[in-house]
Amino acid sequence: MTVQTIKTTPFDGQKPGTSGLRKQTSTFVEPNYLENFVASIWVGIGGVTGKTLVLGGDGRYYNKEASQIVMKMAAASGATKVIVGQDGLLSTPAASHMIRKRKTDGGVILSASHNPGGPKADFGIKFNMPNGGPAPESITNAIFENTKVISEYDILDAPDVDLSVIGLSKMGDMVVEVVDPVVDYAALMEEIFDFAAIKDMFAGGFTLCFDAMHAITGPYATEILEKRLSAPEGSVINGIPLPDFGEGHPDPNPTWAKPLMDLMMGPDAPDFGAASDGDGDRNMIVGKGAYVTPSDSLAMLAANATLVPAYKDGLAGIARSMPTSGASDRVAEALGVPAFATPTGWKFFGNLLDAGKATICGEESAGTGSNHVREKDGLWAVLFWLNILAARKTSVQDLMVDHWSKYGRNYYSRHDYEAIDKPMAEKLMDDLRGKLADLGGTVAGGLTIESADDFAYDDPVDGSRTEKQGIRVLFKGGDRLVLRLSGTGTVGATLRVYLEKVVTDPNGLDMDPQEALAPVIAAAEELAEISTRTGRTAPDVIT
Ligand code: G1P
Ligand code: ZN
Repeated sequence: MTVQTIKTTPFDGQKPGTSGLRKQTSTFVEPNYLENFVASIWVGIGGVTGKTLVLGGDGRYYNKEASQIVMKMAAASGATKVIVGQDGLLSTPAASHMIRKRKTDGGVILSASHNPGGPKADFGIKFNMPNGGPAPESITNAIFENTKVISEYDILDAPDVDLSVIGLSKMGDMVVEVVDPVVDYAALMEEIFDFAAIKDMFAGGFTLCFDAMHAITGPYATEILEKRLSAPEGSVINGIPLPDFGEGHPDPNPTWAKPLMDLMMGPDAPDFGAASDGDGDRNMIVGKGAYVTPSDSLAMLAANATLVPAYKDGLAGIARSMPTSGASDRVAEALGVPAFATPTGWKFFGNLLDAGKATICGEESAGTGSNHVREKDGLWAVLFWLNILAARKTSVQDLMVDHWSKYGRNYYSRHDYEAIDKPMAEKLMDDLRGKLADLGGTVAGGLTIESADDFAYDDPVDGSRTEKQGIRVLFKGGDRLVLRLSGTGTVGATLRVYLEKVVTDPNGLDMDPQEALAPVIAAAEELAEISTRTGRTAPDVIT
């Protein structure tokens, strides 16, 4: 087995986005494309000599081939060991846990998360640090700089390792340990939650439908919900991971998880519905006839956290991404703990969690998590809800109504305009940015603007500053509009428009969200001329 040094030339556009490098699969399979990026990861993290890494992915098309390439490149560059999930599989939260539990030097996660998979869809890769969290910008920038100048990389000329067999083997001098992807994660969930109470609830006839969307959470959900918690067999649907996710879009929201939504809004709805995404870090929560927005879910989990054994002593703080609604801020205020607003993307929560400043975190994009790992965690959120419902002996609907009557309701929606022309999208943002200074005191959509800015974040732990993280327009009375361009799309640009309206009047808690938000939607149109510029009459996705 010899180390081969392969000559290569840089590819344009290997800049990691909100969560790693995501591109169309057809790009990733081009000769040297993945290899250039992996070699640049090694440079960005200061080399892999003597290091132990975790490796796993969401099972999408090219996961297996890419796993072998990563291992051969790690071996060629002197890594001591790779701990890899069986068949190259690990959900993102399970990978984060494995990195931490085994005290490794980090890990490579092969995933494009909620993006569709398959030869005609998307693939992705990211590096997580020894704390289990996504690499910070300082590292991703260093990786990107190397992709611009790379001229060669090292790879071992060796046969593939059989990833279907659990156990130890060798690739050159490097040890490869193939592990069960589910066991350690399931054990962690048992440590965090009151499994006995949840089990009792199922024994009492509580029903659930968990839609794994043909993605990675299938094996995890089957083991935890059906086997360990004795939810009736068949509670997990679409539970076998497929390389193309059954040609679906594995994103748990009302648009892409429509069959589940229809079930939950219909006459045969079970008590509880949930779904997760391609790599298992997102969650959607739905009660019988009651959809819980992710922003509300964060607030409700925080407000009830002491019912969960792992959080019984309370929370140190609550962190949300800036576009996420302010519902959790009011819970933080009531609990007397700090509330943090970070830029979009899980990587910004890591410092707060490591420093013990926050215990739970969430994003409006269906991500919730805590200090148990350094990623958002879909099944964890589902178990958190089940634990609360078991402890409070209530329904999702009643819990929501109770929460709003206590804290008020943040009506919230996100409108996405997908695959629009990139230069046009950038101009839309630039033009709006140019107007911000003069917006205070003016009226849009009938609402008076109190202030407007381009969000910049000063990390309270490491002092780093991150700018241009979304345009915020705050209206008198607390309504809010946020616009930003996605950092995870692979075609053109995606404009995200985040809409929020706060209502504390007890008579106003039962409106249709899109109707409640109509003035904010009108203000967005007036300020950013979305339909005129994009030529779209309606958003592609409404969450
Ligand atoms: C999206 C979400 C963001 C999330 C990220 C990774 O990023 O908006 O909250 O952290 O996916 O799951 P975006 O495409 O908006 O950059
Ligand atoms: Zn994901």
